[in-house]
Amino acid sequence: MEIKQNMQVAIDGPASAGKSTVAKIIANKLSFVYIDTGAMYRACTVIAKRHGIDYGDEEKILQAINEDGIELKSENGEQKVYSAGEDISLEIRTPEISANVSQVSALPKIRKKMVDLQRKMAGEVSVIMDGRDIGTTVLPNAEVKIFLIASARSRAERRMLDFKERGIKTDQTVEEIEADIAERDYKDSHRKISPLKKAKDAIEIDTTNMTIDEVVNEILMKIQRKEKSLKK
Ligand code: DC
Repeated sequence: MEIKQNMQVAIDGPASAGKSTVAKIIANKLSFVYIDTGAMYRACTVIAKRHGIDYGDEEKILQAINEDGIELKSENGEQKVYSAGEDISLEIRTPEISANVSQVSALPKIRKKMVDLQRKMAGEVSVIMDGRDIGTTVLPNAEVKIFLIASARSRAERRMLDFKERGIKTDQTVEEIEADIAERDYKDSHRKISPLKKAKDAIEIDTTNMTIDEVVNEILMKIQRKEKSLKK
């Protein structure tokens, strides 16, 4: 499938709703640049941890981010996250980082820094960006906005599978992961700045009982339809 028009696609939704999985597939199919904004907030959390900075110390974390930098790279079709020249792609997914990323991502100056970076990365190319506030804040003019949801249980099962596939060992049960996800949803939806929220013009898709292919195809159809309407 070829999309000739430059386009921005925003995919928002709670943790483990399938955003990054479908966004990556769609980016490959359409040759769009994929930007995983959750990975960027996770990288901020890794930087805080590595510098031994308190997860609530906005100024020090910001300074450390400015020193170390955060880079998203595509290597052999895989998304990699680098900071201070080191590949931190595995570390950003560890339970300690998952448990503290909501606190770091709620810090206003960190959010401003990340949103500026994300807008810069979106620049003049066609992008598919996933996160929590893409349709509402980062790319309010995105041509296609999708809001993916799924039950907390099915999201916990997906996360467990994801750990296995990535070779990350966990002592957590599915129930514990489900409780963590519910807690993170609550924090992400109730923070003051850019909370997780469906944009008015976003299309909601409940993926609980859908396969990845079904979700991908539904979004591809919406993108195609949008392109046709833009040509008119
Ligand atoms: O999508 P994820 O689980 O990797 O995101 C990690 C955390 O980052 C999540 O708890 C909320 C935060 N986040 C955010 O606040 N805004 C975004 N655009 C993306 C993620």
